[in-house]
Amino acid sequence: MKRETREARSPGEALHECPADWDPRSQEVLSDQIGAYDRMRERCPVARSDYLGWSLFRHQDVLRVITDHETFSNVVSRHPSVPNGMDPPEHTLYRRMIEPYFAPERIAAFEPVFRGIARDLVDALGRDLPCDVIRHFAEPYAVRIQCAFLGWPESLRAPLLQWVYRNRAATLARDTEAMASVALEFDGHIRSQLEVRERAGDAAADDLTTCLLRQSVDGHRLQHSEIVSILRNWTVGELGTIAACVGIILHFLAERPDVQDLLRRDRTRLAQAIEEILRLHGPLVSNRRVATREVIVGGRTFAAGDRITVMWVSANRDGEAFEDAGQFRLERDQSQNLLYGAGIHVCPGAALARMQLNTVIDEVLDGLEPFSLAPGTGPVRAIYPASGFSSLVLKAA
Ligand code: HEM
Repeated sequence: MKRETREARSPGEALHECPADWDPRSQEVLSDQIGAYDRMRERCPVARSDYLGWSLFRHQDVLRVITDHETFSNVVSRHPSVPNGMDPPEHTLYRRMIEPYFAPERIAAFEPVFRGIARDLVDALGRDLPCDVIRHFAEPYAVRIQCAFLGWPESLRAPLLQWVYRNRAATLARDTEAMASVALEFDGHIRSQLEVRERAGDAAADDLTTCLLRQSVDGHRLQHSEIVSILRNWTVGELGTIAACVGIILHFLAERPDVQDLLRRDRTRLAQAIEEILRLHGPLVSNRRVATREVIVGGRTFAAGDRITVMWVSANRDGEAFEDAGQFRLERDQSQNLLYGAGIHVCPGAALARMQLNTVIDEVLDGLEPFSLAPGTGPVRAIYPASGFSSLVLKAA
């Protein structure tokens, strides 16, 4: 990591005048994101780079930014993103509209469906071990529950996963042409789902995608472009993040047979354990904001228009917010855990995600013999913007 002259600059200097404090895409950072972010939090907790603008590594700074939407706007791109790329009052309207899709009774209705999917995959995994559980288990689970949740056909599973990989590669390279082309690709998949339902009229499948087609907001029917954007937000949440979570939790349990054994015996501790495992190793690296006015954060001055990146993975490992932050503590108070964010953009899918994760790990502990890491095979860490693992080979213990 480049050691720069942070101390030599006065707080009044604007973003474009400062030399970079770090390079988020250096080999050192990409090969061990968590370790690199931990070091940045100690060395330069509010750090500038061309790629991410101002990165915030401390819990207190992240919390401040995400709970002050007037100073720190979510309108970070000229491409619309519903609702994550919006500010009030527009955000409030759309947010109110999507929340009922995550109501407890809707989530509860999907629990048996997701459990069935998890059971099938666990059965296959029991026969396949040792194998890469990211490719053979975490990703198939994420894509199958996503399609089940939205009423999408099996034929979309492979293209959706390909879309996630391509989207990540384009984001890392900041290749705007490739980003535009993957966005179009996603549009194509979703628009074809919308057209099928429109052609079917009243006979359209009774699923969440059809509900969105008939949904109004602020007195108008949602436009197709808005539905595509909403579904893109949900797809990133489900496909990218849930798959990463499953990999992270399985890796943790493989490395900690004591915790695996405890949870096998006492499933009432599972939900709490998952929150703590994902605090230690966040599945979602960051989100963006933009300063609406000049503001000082952590002694550094941001100008209006400066880009800001809140580093969830780092904030949740901050020793100022969590005692023994690097240690797994099952009994830890999770009220400061920023896994699902905070403020007006707090994850609306949090209850759904918790159920999806609880269900799949419950099935793993029921249906799979004790497991551990297969020696000499990795694991291979995922690189930015993804978190977790790109390969994780497990074997029967
Ligand atoms: C473990 C899995 C998940 C994690 C860790 C997670 C985390 C987060 C976080 C930290 C935010 C706040 C972003 C910000 O402040 O800019 C967020 C927002 C969001 N999440 Fe999730 N999420 C997960 C799963 C899901 C799922 C399953 C869905 C939907 C199916 C979803 C839909 C959304 C949406 C729509 C937003 C934007 C909300 C807004 O801007 O008002 N997430 N998520």
